[in-house]
Amino acid sequence: MKKLVFATNNKHKLEELRAILGSTLTLLSLEDIHCDVDIPETADTLEGNAILKAKYIKEQYGLDCFADDTGLEIEALNNAPGVFSARYAGSDKDAAANMNKVLDKLGNTTNRTAQFRTVIALMIGEETKLFEGIVKGQITTQKEGESGFGYDPIFQPEGYTKTFAQLGAATKNSISHRAKAVHQLCKFLTHLNV
Ligand code: IMP
Repeated sequence: MKKLVFATNNKHKLEELRAILGSTLTLLSLEDIHCDVDIPETADTLEGNAILKAKYIKEQYGLDCFADDTGLEIEALNNAPGVFSARYAGSDKDAAANMNKVLDKLGNTTNRTAQFRTVIALMIGEETKLFEGIVKGQITTQKEGESGFGYDPIFQPEGYTKTFAQLGAATKNSISHRAKAVHQLCKFLTHLNV
């Protein structure tokens, strides 16, 4: 069966992907290929970081692979935190501090339009392909809800009156930025018949 590396050790993401891809191919994590390097994400775009990660695996291991990168883009903050979403309030990836910084920066701003954007870079054979998933929404004025991770408690997707953290995993995963990007990837892989 065709093997494809997903350049992540995030178990949640792997499970999500394995469920979607089913038995059409074997999805390997970084752990599965004994890669314990924290691949540096030094690019200044989501596309650049996704390519960096996928390229590292392709070059070091010679395996077909894909990698993702996600950012929260807030219109009134010139699309910040964007590619710096994980470390917006400092180097320790503190979700609560990141959300507080967003809420502080926005203050009473009425334009609270934002989007989550996921980019997936696939390197298969000699080919590199990019896939994108976007979910539009609004930044709330305070944190609401417990589920999910990252900025979920302050992001209300378009068409809903609750945040991602209040909507829960099943609803979030059916409409999310990542689900949309993954769907594009799956369509491409199915088309390739891998
Ligand atoms: P990553 O590229 O998936 O690691 O995402 C980078 C950062 O974006 C994470 O550390 C989170 O702060 C934020 N993020 C990514 N996806 C989500 C999401 O689905 N909900 C909330 N925050 C997210």
